[in-house]
Amino acid sequence: MVAKTIPVDPFDLVILGATGDLAQRKILPGLYRRMCAGQLPSDARIIGASRTDINADGFRAFARKAITEYVKDSRCNTQGLDLFLAMLDYEKLDVFADDGWKQLKRHLRKGVISAFYFSVGPNLFGEISHKLTKHKLTDENSRIVVEKPFGHDLTSAQALNRDLTSCFDEHQIYRIDHYLGKETVQNLMAIRFGNALFEPLWNAQHVDHVQITVAEDLGIAGRGAYYNKSGAMRDMVQNHLMQLLCLTAMEPPSKYSADAVRDEKLKVIRALEPVPESDYVRGQYSGEKNNDSYLDHAEDPDSLTESYIALKVNIANWRWAGTPFYLRTGKRLRARMSEIAVVFKDPPHSIFEGEFNRKGNVLVIRLQPDEGITLRVTIKEPGPGGMRLTEVPLDMAFSEALGEQFSFLPDAYERLIMDVIRGDQTLFMRGDEVEAAWAWVDPIIHGWQRSHQRPLPYDPASSGPDDALMLLHRDGRRWRKIKA
Ligand code: BG6
Repeated sequence: MVAKTIPVDPFDLVILGATGDLAQRKILPGLYRRMCAGQLPSDARIIGASRTDINADGFRAFARKAITEYVKDSRCNTQGLDLFLAMLDYEKLDVFADDGWKQLKRHLRKGVISAFYFSVGPNLFGEISHKLTKHKLTDENSRIVVEKPFGHDLTSAQALNRDLTSCFDEHQIYRIDHYLGKETVQNLMAIRFGNALFEPLWNAQHVDHVQITVAEDLGIAGRGAYYNKSGAMRDMVQNHLMQLLCLTAMEPPSKYSADAVRDEKLKVIRALEPVPESDYVRGQYSGEKNNDSYLDHAEDPDSLTESYIALKVNIANWRWAGTPFYLRTGKRLRARMSEIAVVFKDPPHSIFEGEFNRKGNVLVIRLQPDEGITLRVTIKEPGPGGMRLTEVPLDMAFSEALGEQFSFLPDAYERLIMDVIRGDQTLFMRGDEVEAAWAWVDPIIHGWQRSHQRPLPYDPASSGPDDALMLLHRDGRRWRKIKA
């Protein structure tokens, strides 16, 4: 059974940077899929704006091409596509000039929710915000949506926040971290706070450690110039992995509401201990064949940027003191695999004789691919011959358990755009949260910059540098396997 979709209120959505990569791959296809799901009201309006010299028909042709390429959804048909394209309009706009804004304003209706998606580089966020307010395109009901990277360090993030908040209230600013829009990431909250089963065990007394892995099989080809200025710490840890860590570690919020959830996440970030040099390992992938290494794509043959990082993170609070969180993420690894594994402590005393290869109870929340949950439990090995123990997974793949309902789930961007229209900020980062994350990340980065530390080479399609294994081995633990 497919869940009933309730249409959102009528809206005017302006996409700034409407002919860019994000609009083409995610925003336009996502909105179209929401229409196919019955969630867009028939009078929704989507207005593209960019420097590209096209008219509304040109923008519709651009959208048609993007949708044909990126949407594979059995609920969508040609008639639907025509209806969607009829919702689109376009205005050529140079952000730095004054003229185009008045024309853009003419597209906006009074009394209708207006949202402005800044699908442009962060260097334009401030200018766009000021132009929107100067030309009175927004009111107190308007929302703006900004993409990562939200700053490069604490100072630049503070400057960005100042720019945005000088024009808009915090409740109007939607900072996207698309990991928060992933189905299983939200499921993490449902699992923790919707069941009485896990929460009593969810602490240092019962949890030995937590592993958070976001492994990617692709390298940086095609994105070298951007990535090389960023690296795994800024590109993935400061945002996506920190969000996963926060949702895993936070206290139960009093309710599922934007500020209650974000207050709890912020407390976790503020409780993170500084990470000494001995507790992280940085890597950079080498080449398998000619011209395929990180350095070949980085546009800088001497680059010291990491394409892999593993860290041991301690949270200084009552719940987690003594239970480390190990984080790792990297490009060009063995497989694309993201998961959170909560590894429980062994029973305090065994009543059974004999040894077996105990790995212990582990709750794995798989974010991708094959979203689902696995709980490894100890059982009796079947058959006669006495009480021998073994471990088996209690495995639930959401695609099997939820059937058709699962195949029609919105992707992260679709869900988040609909949340913007609904005015729900729960899955968006608040300004203080972003700044706190940078305040923790900055000293770690400064540490390796000061020492001119060269990342360790690792083979493509491997699990990363060998030294990352040591990060756990020396604590008597081991990483879970990276596999598809
Ligand atoms: C982006 C990073 O934010 O997330 C990319 O900039 C990364 O480098 C991507 O590849 C991963 O997202 P997903 O949804 O494919 O896991």
